[in-house]
Amino acid sequence: MKQKDQAGDGVVVVGICGSIRRGSYTRMAVQIALRGAQELGALTGLIDLKDYHLVFCDGKEDESTLPEDVFKLRREVSRAGGIILGTPEYHGSFSGVLKNALDLMGFDEIEGKMIGLVGVSGGALGAVHALNSLRAVGRALHAWVIPEQASIPEAWKVFDESGTLKDSDLEKRLKEVGRQVARFAYLHTSEKAQEFLRAWEGAPLNPGGAKE
Ligand SMILES: Cc1cc2nc3c(=O)[nH]c(=O)nc-3n(C[C@H](O)[C@H](O)[C@H](O)COP(=O)(O)O)c2cc1C
Repeated sequence: MKQKDQAGDGVVVVGICGSIRRGSYTRMAVQIALRGAQELGALTGLIDLKDYHLVFCDGKEDESTLPEDVFKLRREVSRAGGIILGTPEYHGSFSGVLKNALDLMGFDEIEGKMIGLVGVSGGALGAVHALNSLRAVGRALHAWVIPEQASIPEAWKVFDESGTLKDSDLEKRLKEVGRQVARFAYLHTSEKAQEFLRAWEGAPLNPGGAKE
């Protein structure tokens, strides 16, 4: 994970790039969203899955043979309060690379965290299916997926090779995802928010069915 030297208010936001393609537009989009988080003072890091030696999740029964990079990934996500998930649209959903990385993690790393979603597509319809599917995964992991998201259709048309977006509205939208993740992650650390979360997490699952 590459670190930016901007401690700011202490919030850490990591971006996970769900494409391992060398010139990935997803990576460019995640980097722009992370810049938005930096603008609010967050410490940010890019988790580029192409640099991690991972294996397929096999059900987690025996973790003794897992490569060190699985534990490195878990550590890096654990220390973040906010997570930007970036994905390409692949056959009407998000990438298998990202799903496997999420499957190698779980509640320990992700529960209660703020998540922002960004996606790119080759076609004109954007990454909406990918982002909707990821939203459901965030719910399953008990994370807080923020309503703002950024989908970039025909990504090959709007990025140049250096990762600069030619469309300033799209750039603003990507940055806004990062900014909101940083802001809500920060609010989550306040004592009032912690008090609420303790009460909420301690509440009975089905109070309507409880007998005194
Ligand atoms: C396996 C695969 C499936 C894809 N499926 C779709 C799709 O359903 N809709 C679409 O618009 N683009 C699709 N694409 C195009 C990618 O979304 C596009 O190339 C994108 O830029 C890939 O992300 P990356 O640049 O971060 O690697 C697909 C590409 C691949 C390799």
